[in-house]
Amino acid sequence: MSRPPSWIKRVLALPNDRPAKIVGVAVLLCLVCSIMVSAAAIGLRPLQEANRLLEIRRNILQVAGLMRPGADIDELFKQIEPRIVDLRSGSFTDAVDPMDYDQRQAARDPATSIALPPEQDIASIRRQAHYATVYLVKDEQGDVSAVIVPVHGYGLWSTLYGYLAVRPDGREVVGLQFYEHAETPGLGGEVDNPDWRALWPGRLLFDDEGAVRIEVVKGTAAKGEAGIHQVDGLAGATLTARGVNNLVRFWAGENGFGPFLQNLPRELAEHG
Ligand SMILES: Cc1cc2nc3c(=O)[nH]c(=O)nc-3n(C[C@H](O)[C@H](O)[C@H](O)COP(=O)(O)O)c2cc1C
Repeated sequence: MSRPPSWIKRVLALPNDRPAKIVGVAVLLCLVCSIMVSAAAIGLRPLQEANRLLEIRRNILQVAGLMRPGADIDELFKQIEPRIVDLRSGSFTDAVDPMDYDQRQAARDPATSIALPPEQDIASIRRQAHYATVYLVKDEQGDVSAVIVPVHGYGLWSTLYGYLAVRPDGREVVGLQFYEHAETPGLGGEVDNPDWRALWPGRLLFDDEGAVRIEVVKGTAAKGEAGIHQVDGLAGATLTARGVNNLVRFWAGENGFGPFLQNLPRELAEHG
């Protein structure tokens, strides 16, 4: 084992109440601790990245209704195919690799995104990336049974990030699930309540003319056909519910996935 440098030995040999020893030991302790923390941070980075990927996959499977307790996430994810959509044309594109593409990063870069004018920015996201990663859920025959699109927008305290799953018709909601937000638990945090999430499947995003009609109402959705585009609001959390309403309507609209979803049956038939 290598011996400690002589200046360390000299400092340690000093009486304990000498300022030079107190400062020296404190410096040494800081040095050792910072090396340990840095080493742990660097060493754990691959594990953190793997966990982040696993968490994304778990959320995608959950919104598609495929997640089961104790299931092997990587195994289940084999039926999911990530694809890139050009939001400007609403078509699939191979311009970037879905395995490397970071939509959040792209939305921050003026070269890979556009600034949204305030009147169009109903989700309060400021910038929109040119490309988005979507996920095709395939059944055993290889047919697409659902398409999952990423959504985000401002609630009351935070930006909510999540996934919206739709049927291959591009209209019917399969589920909505948030994986990141800082709304108040018990109030805005009720967006994660399974009972509220269960209100989304079966709702229709568009009317027959293709206009965005999905809506989180204040209070209770209308019964029967009249409520086919409506989801109950969140009691005591109207501001978060309004944020969810705005973000879902934004992403279903012409500046979000509107062109892609309206075109989805044809796009899947030709390039699915
Ligand atoms: C500490 C605190 C935290 C709150 N957090 C939220 C929240 O996360 N989401 C939300 O919509 N309202 C939240 N509210 C309530 C809002 O201020 C507002 O009263 C509410 O959204 C109105 O909803 P209502 O019309 O259904 O009562 C919070 C209020 C307080 C005092």
